[in-house]
Amino acid sequence: MTNSSVELKYQNQSLQLPVFEGTEGEKGVDISQLRAKTGLITLDPGFVNTGSCTSGITFIDGDKGILRYRGIPIEVLAERSNFLETSYLLIYGKLPTADELEKFTQRVKRHTMLHEDIKRFYDGFPRDAHPMAILGSVVCSLSVFYQHETGDPAYLAELNRVRLLAKLPTIAAYAYKKSVGQPFIYPDNSRSYCENFLYMMFSTPAERYEVDPDLIDTLNLLLILHADHEQNCSTATVRMVQSSGASMWASITAGICALSGPLHGGANQEVIEMLEQIHADGGNVKKYVDLAKSKESSFRLMGFGHRVYKNFDPRAKIIKTACDKLLKKMKVADPLLDIAKQLEEAALKDSYFIEKKLYPNVDFYSGIIYRAMGIPVNAFTVMFALGRLPGWLAQAKELNEDKATKIGRPRQVYTGPALSDYTPIEKRKA
Ligand code: SDX
Repeated sequence: MTNSSVELKYQNQSLQLPVFEGTEGEKGVDISQLRAKTGLITLDPGFVNTGSCTSGITFIDGDKGILRYRGIPIEVLAERSNFLETSYLLIYGKLPTADELEKFTQRVKRHTMLHEDIKRFYDGFPRDAHPMAILGSVVCSLSVFYQHETGDPAYLAELNRVRLLAKLPTIAAYAYKKSVGQPFIYPDNSRSYCENFLYMMFSTPAERYEVDPDLIDTLNLLLILHADHEQNCSTATVRMVQSSGASMWASITAGICALSGPLHGGANQEVIEMLEQIHADGGNVKKYVDLAKSKESSFRLMGFGHRVYKNFDPRAKIIKTACDKLLKKMKVADPLLDIAKQLEEAALKDSYFIEKKLYPNVDFYSGIIYRAMGIPVNAFTVMFALGRLPGWLAQAKELNEDKATKIGRPRQVYTGPALSDYTPIEKRKA
């Protein structure tokens, strides 16, 4: 808390509201006593101006394009870390020693398999079931396989965090195998986390399969970049569900569902579909930039804009570079990458995008890499969920350990009918 405050004058009242200052100078007015002392609540659709918590996990400076996990810049982690090490950093608040990382990695490896009964769930899904729906369904159902476990809550919470980190790639890979009619591939725990996922996705029992090291490195990078992002829609959802005391399985399922929206994690699939539409339309980039600006059209440049970043999303910059590097190494010339670059160039010169501070976000280039890796478009958001999982787990852990945590229950301002009579049905008019 700072020793500063803001004065609220209302009717014949004057109220001093304390101001809370964070590590990087961000200030929040503490309104926790507002309603008790004035009868007033605040109104802030979309929580554009409202902080739901204090958090020590991720810091974003949207004006400067800064993103740090536990104080470490995303550029440094992208260059030097791997996904499990970054997951440890987010969840436990520090970089692991070599021994801690080895033990964590081994714990995750021990839980990569799914109960054999879960495989039968996939028989019930249609072949073209969206993999985000499968991911959410299976994660939610995992709870019934552990519902009778008792013991130290902290131990069980830690075990379930490890189980989720270990099993999400297997669940995702099984969904892909179901969609292509190939046998499910069991995890091979002699392989690293990202290598194991790609192995489960693309190997078959019919032949030996070695995962391309470039794809392993690129996947580590992408998952690190997606790992956490303050109180975004899906993370705020995980916190809300967790605040009721619901299980980790329920909270993570809710996060998966929130992430699936096209304005959030679903945007990476929308970007590719938009680029394919522009490509099919002769690559007429200007037409679509104009459409995105038009008030008459609901079309938006998917992968552009952000609630917090009013400068470049630092993740987009890193992914764009990784995109160029991987496609060159794979000798892949993807016309959608050229269109994406033309779209970016056109938009960033356009006053509409400049004035509204709309820049490419994390979703703008990621799909092009996933395409090059052979990931189907409808599974791009599943890849986002694989990356975001440690962030959700870290934020849920922080919420559970925060003594200030209360069940989330926002207020509202009622705008419906005043006291009304019950009209008998024979007297009602259509
Ligand atoms: C993610 O929160 C996070 O941190 C999310 C995320 C994470 O890591 O968790 O970063 C991941 O979700 C990235 C965002 C992916 N979504 C998209 O790419 C979808 C396209 N972008 C948007 O719809 C939009 O920019 C949002 C949803 C990302 C942000 O929405 P806001 O902050 O509510 O802003 P807004 O919708 O009120 O837009 C402000 C103005 C509007 O114009 P006016 O009504 O003021 O005239 O900008 C316009 C919008 O019409 N605008 C766009 C636009 N995005 C905003 N116009 C054209 N194209 C766009 N993409």
